[in-house]
Amino acid sequence: MNPVVESAPVTGRSAPLPVALDAGSRAFLDRLDGALRSLLDAAPTEVRDVLLPRLTGDGKRLRPLLVHLAGAFGDGTVEHLVGIGLVMELIHTASLFHDDVMDRSETRRGRPTLHQSHGSEVAVFAGAYLLQEAIHVVHHLPALPEATAVGVRDAVSRAALDLCTGQLSEILHIGNANLEATEHWSTIERKTASLFEASCRMAALATNGPVETLSAFGHRFGVLYQLLDDVRDVACTEAELGKAPGSDLRSGTYTLPILSALATDDESGRALRLLLTSRSGKLAPPELDRAIELLRAAGGIERALERSEALGRSACAALAELPENGARAELEALVDGLLAQARHVAARFTNLGKVASA
Ligand code: FPP
Ligand code: MG
Repeated sequence: MNPVVESAPVTGRSAPLPVALDAGSRAFLDRLDGALRSLLDAAPTEVRDVLLPRLTGDGKRLRPLLVHLAGAFGDGTVEHLVGIGLVMELIHTASLFHDDVMDRSETRRGRPTLHQSHGSEVAVFAGAYLLQEAIHVVHHLPALPEATAVGVRDAVSRAALDLCTGQLSEILHIGNANLEATEHWSTIERKTASLFEASCRMAALATNGPVETLSAFGHRFGVLYQLLDDVRDVACTEAELGKAPGSDLRSGTYTLPILSALATDDESGRALRLLLTSRSGKLAPPELDRAIELLRAAGGIERALERSEALGRSACAALAELPENGARAELEALVDGLLAQARHVAARFTNLGKVASA
C-alpha cells in the first residue's frame, strides 16, 4: 500500500500528488516525460522555447498516472498508454493556458502564468498548438482494432467538448450568487471530471479492460479532485497554492465552498451575499480578504468538505469489482490521499469563531 502524503508542501510539481508513487508508476511517468520532450524537440524552435519550460518537470501528471493505472486491468501495451497519457497531458496543459487567460491569473505553480510572461496572444496560440499536437498523437497511436480506435477517438473528442461547455457554463454563471449547486455540479463534471473519466476510459479501451467500471471511477475521482481544488483556493495560503488565494471569489466563479457559505442563513453568510452582490462578483483586494473571512466564518469550507467523504467512498466503490492488484491499491491510495488532504484542510477550520459582519 502506498503511503498517503498528509501535508501539502509546495514542490517543483505544484500541489503534491496525494500519494507516493511506486516504481512502476514512476517509470511510466518518466517514459511519458521522455515522449513529451521528444514531441517538443520536433517542434519549431520558437514554439519549443515557449513550451519547454512549461511542459517538462512541471505538473503532477495526474491524468497520465490514471491512464497507467487504469491500463493495468487488461492486456494492452505500454506504447498505447504512453500515447494516451500524452494526449491527456497536452489537452490538460492547453486548457490551463486558456483558463489562465480567461481568469487573468498572474501565477500558477508558483511562477508567472504564460500570458503574464509572454502575453495573451502567445498563451492562446500555445493552447491551440498543444490541442493540435494532441489530435496528431491520437491519430498516430500504435495500431488498434478499428472499433477500439474509434472508441478512443470518440472518448477524447467528447471529453474536449465537455471541457469547453463546462468552461462556458462557468463563464456564463460568473457573479451569479443564486447559482444552483446542481448546475455548478454539472459544470465541474464537464470542465474537470470529463478528462479524468476519458483518461480511464481510453486506457481501458486500449487494453481490453473493464471500460465502464474504470470510467465511473475516473469521473467520481475527477469531481472529488475539483471539489478539493475549489476548497484549497479559499482555505490555503499563497505558499501552499503557488498562486494568490481566493481567485474564484475574485473572478466571481462561485464554487461549492462559496455557494455553501452563501446558502448559510447566519450573519456571516448574509454579509458575504451582500458583499458579493454589491460588487457584481468582482472584488478588489481588501474586499477579497473580507469575503474569504466571511466565507470561512459561515462554514463554507467544512460544508463543502462534507461532500468529499461520500465522493471518495463512491469512487472506491466503483473499483470494488476489479481484481485486487497493485494498480487497484494505487487508485484507492490516490482517493485516500485526496481525502487525507481534505481532512487536513478541514482540521484548520473546525471550531472557527464567527467574525463580526460590521
Ligand atoms: C482549471 O480549473 C481549468 C479547467 C479544468 C478547464 C478549462 C477549460 C477551458 C479553458 C476550455 C478550453 C479547453 C481547451 C481544451 C483548450 P480551475 O480554473 O477550477 O482551476 P485552477 O485553480 O487551476 O485555475
Ligand atoms: Mg482557473
